[in-house]
Amino acid sequence: MERRSFLKAAAFTAAAWTFSRHEALAQQADSHIEILMDEPVGTIAPEIYGHFTEHLGSVIYDGIYVGENSKIANQEGLRSALIEKMRAIKAPVVRWPGGCFADSYDWRDGIGPRDKRPRRTNFWTDNFTAAQQKQNIPQVYEPNQFGTSDFVRFCKLSGAEPYIAANVRSLTPLDFDHWVEYCNSPRGTTTLAEMREADGSADPFNVHYWGVGNESWGCGGNFDPEDYAIEYKRYTTWVPSYGVNLHFVASGPNSDEQAWTRGFFNKLCHGQPSHDMHGVWGLSIHHYAWNLSRGKTQDWDAGKGDALNFEPIDWYELCKETDRIGGIILDHWTALGEFDLDRKVKLVVDEYGPWYRPGTENAPEQLLGQMITVRDAVMTGMTLDTFNRNADKVGMAACAQLVNCLNSLFLTHEDKFATTPVFNVFEMYAAHQGGKALRTEFSAPEVSYDRDGQPANFWGLNGSASLKGNTLTLTAVNPDVGRPREVEIVIRGASAVSAHAWVVAESDIHAHNTLDQPDRVKTHGADVSVRPDSIGFTFPPASVAKIEIQLS
Ligand code: AHR
Repeated sequence: MERRSFLKAAAFTAAAWTFSRHEALAQQADSHIEILMDEPVGTIAPEIYGHFTEHLGSVIYDGIYVGENSKIANQEGLRSALIEKMRAIKAPVVRWPGGCFADSYDWRDGIGPRDKRPRRTNFWTDNFTAAQQKQNIPQVYEPNQFGTSDFVRFCKLSGAEPYIAANVRSLTPLDFDHWVEYCNSPRGTTTLAEMREADGSADPFNVHYWGVGNESWGCGGNFDPEDYAIEYKRYTTWVPSYGVNLHFVASGPNSDEQAWTRGFFNKLCHGQPSHDMHGVWGLSIHHYAWNLSRGKTQDWDAGKGDALNFEPIDWYELCKETDRIGGIILDHWTALGEFDLDRKVKLVVDEYGPWYRPGTENAPEQLLGQMITVRDAVMTGMTLDTFNRNADKVGMAACAQLVNCLNSLFLTHEDKFATTPVFNVFEMYAAHQGGKALRTEFSAPEVSYDRDGQPANFWGLNGSASLKGNTLTLTAVNPDVGRPREVEIVIRGASAVSAHAWVVAESDIHAHNTLDQPDRVKTHGADVSVRPDSIGFTFPPASVAKIEIQLS
């Protein structure tokens, strides 16, 4: 990250500023942020900054896993450049093996000597062309070279916790018990513990987070919520824990489908509020954002917007789709509150991000691969700020997906590697992990735009703030593609002595990194002025920014 000298950022003493000078600067501001030190929202779970990896396209093969004999720098077959960057963003948790793939996956296929592992038809095979289906490539026919022990090794090397999604659609509860046993039974105890040792780890993996199926309303079994509640109990009741506090994540709704949440908990809790949530630690929510709304076509792929070729109207419409996550969180939290008397269950937004039509992927086999622009950085900042503002409700999240797929932080192909502007956002926002979220009020002129002949608008500035020790971290996005926001920031209940700022912003809103030009989009240092009673900062158009403020 580029750290320029911060001319105005050095500590300013109150004496250096006259009252009239301060007033003049405050008057220039068109927007205001008020951070309320006495109104904590909750602690921001580091796990909110998690990631998602599925055996889909080139997430695993050509993405994370390159093989031990590869010329590409690797640690036990895992791409070294990726591991290094995972550490840089303090990746707290990684979800695997899907996604839809999870409910078609037999974990036994991915253990034992690599040359003995079976090759299977990947869940996503039908999404490839007929010509691709004739090729024996790992994206189409799963070679199982990357299995449970490889995934856990990737997590450990990255400094992250593993979060494993079980197969509810096509395996049994006993298979699930055995997967937990393979991962968590003490060294030398069970046959599966010995098999784990043969796979490189005598010590148990101690996996805490277990997803009970994935999208059980769809690819995870087409269940209705009541039937899924029965399955949930079969899979999670009396699973041996081996002293590990198992955190079960129930398969939740698609976006705002509150009927799923109510139906599931109503069945689970026998139709009444309860103190017994049957071990549900989290309820999974998925929310993808796309530009389907302008009625051009109902075709699933063609109806989506393009990752690179877009107009400001597409940008704002995507902002609206992305921003729905705030209401979705509140709605499910309300539905959950009708049953969960002790508020034990957290929301787990374990798939989110913009989803565009195919065509910008780096290689034909990179299914759901898309280029990532500054627009995606803004959408991701907006989403992470929403999680921070709801720190009392959201216990974990996972950006979909980590590499070469949808809202990726990384692009790879063969020996080429690049980070995306979404990575820059995760790098900046890592400072929030474990911080105390503070209520923060934003007021700014709305963005107005023409929506196919109709006036439309969107909010002009939003973000979040958190406190760790004496360091206050403020992050925010300016979604306006044409106008900067001149902001006066007031901290109620504390005084700032200094501040530093970083920004992701480009004059071209389509700016993105490619494998051949991996450093096009950078995080820049920015000027911030600390005044006796407030802080002044300019959020450039179409930007994500972080201001770190030292308090006295
Ligand atoms: O992330 C791609 C897919 O989107 C996942 O496999 C599935 O859970 C969701 O529908």
